[in-house]
Amino acid sequence: MSNRPHWKSRIGFLLVVIGSAVGLGNIWRFPYVAYKNGGGAFLIPYFIALLVVGIPLLILEQGWGYMQKGSAPVAFARFRKRWEFLGWWVAIFITFGLMFYYSAVLSWCLGYLFFSFDLSWGVDTQAYFFNSFLGVSDSPFNIGEIRWPIFFGIIFIWFVNWAIVSRGIRRGIEVANKIGIPLLFISLIVMLVWSLMLPGAGEGVSAFLTPDLSKILSPSVWNDAFGQIFFTLSLGSGTMIVYASYLPARSRINDNAMITASANSLVEVMAGFAVFSILGYIAFVKGMPLADAVKSGPGLAYVAYPQAINNLPFGREAFGVLFFFTLLLAGITSSVSMIETFISSAIDKFGWSRKKITTVVCLIGVAGGSIFATNAGLLWLDIIDHMVCNVGMITMGFLEAIVVAWLFGGTKFISKLDKFSKFKLGKFWVFCAKIFIPLVLFVMFMADTIKNIQKPYGGYPWSALFVIGFGWLAATLVVARFFSKAKWRTDHLKKKYHDEDEALLVEVDGE
Ligand code: ALA
Repeated sequence: MSNRPHWKSRIGFLLVVIGSAVGLGNIWRFPYVAYKNGGGAFLIPYFIALLVVGIPLLILEQGWGYMQKGSAPVAFARFRKRWEFLGWWVAIFITFGLMFYYSAVLSWCLGYLFFSFDLSWGVDTQAYFFNSFLGVSDSPFNIGEIRWPIFFGIIFIWFVNWAIVSRGIRRGIEVANKIGIPLLFISLIVMLVWSLMLPGAGEGVSAFLTPDLSKILSPSVWNDAFGQIFFTLSLGSGTMIVYASYLPARSRINDNAMITASANSLVEVMAGFAVFSILGYIAFVKGMPLADAVKSGPGLAYVAYPQAINNLPFGREAFGVLFFFTLLLAGITSSVSMIETFISSAIDKFGWSRKKITTVVCLIGVAGGSIFATNAGLLWLDIIDHMVCNVGMITMGFLEAIVVAWLFGGTKFISKLDKFSKFKLGKFWVFCAKIFIPLVLFVMFMADTIKNIQKPYGGYPWSALFVIGFGWLAATLVVARFFSKAKWRTDHLKKKYHDEDEALLVEVDGE
């Protein structure tokens, strides 16, 4: 049998994957993306994207990690050595890309958690966030100086992650999620009930639920829906492969993926209700329609929320603490999974000590995160985020579908998973993974590329997009190649876990 460590229990596994999925994407990103795309109108493409791309890809990733019993580089190298670089590429651009700016957004959250105690953001929450707190400069090349409170927050976030990840998957990651996820649900429910009771909440909720059908035909709404599903389910990021690689044989992959996706969407919709109730409340206080009262955008949580909190009839400080604590908790359980993506890969290939490699990665994380603590931080964040989500994760999802559904064989793959799961997906999954996912991701990628050629993303100068966006992505590819060419210091590739599992499958077949 495999000597790879396993999660302590199935519930432990479910909590860690839910912890990875539920993050800033659910509470910070989803509401502003939904709001930008017509509120209720967004829910239809969102659920379609969930069913035809989100869940099938989640099953693909969890199934691949489970079958190959290894982090992303191992999982691909065991299949064919030439694909190993793909595993390294994803591990690198997530841990040393997405996680760099994710730690900065978590640091803002930490800052706002403290500000909640005396509502230090004042009356003009917009000016406070962009000018006083972030001090945003006029160009990505105008770095300015380090904003020390944000930088110290980043150190704290990496320290918490270090404390969890260095303890290992059972004593660290599983324990943290077993505490964090139930707490997250409780605080979210309290926040939701509180928000729903505010005057004007009804108008906000109806904006969230009423579909504006004219918007549904817009391609950008669909693009955003697929992008949101990728981000929120941590797809194309290698984390699901890594987490599932610690599962024992005979795991119910399809069922687990369904539970993960349902819990994640439940949190997303709950956060949607809570945030839209607050938006409705702001509209009520201002005495104007919701669309005119609140501006959409990544600042929604840091501008609109503090504004609403200022106007609450009672318990303002407590509400602020509750909201930013919930956001922080959701983000930390996700950030742990991003770091584990690289740590697990490094341990698998080089046999390095977990404590040492986690320490090194977290120190690099603080250094890399520091650029996001400068005056140009928000601009860098925007460019790298676009690169990670619209190029990195999408390319990864596309190639995973090609490798697993076409080269490995979709029917063979799903038949192994169907055997142990209550949900049998058979041909539906094969169709999604072979045809639908590659097609949708290709169309999305092309649409985004054409749009960017016509008009550079975010109105940034081409030089900034090339140096920061493409330059960084190219660097991750070079480093990935270096890691995949390095000599294996463990015997992971020699061990035939896969075959042992296959033997188990045959054995169960005959029962
Ligand atoms: N899935 C994580 C989130 O939603 C990355 O924030």
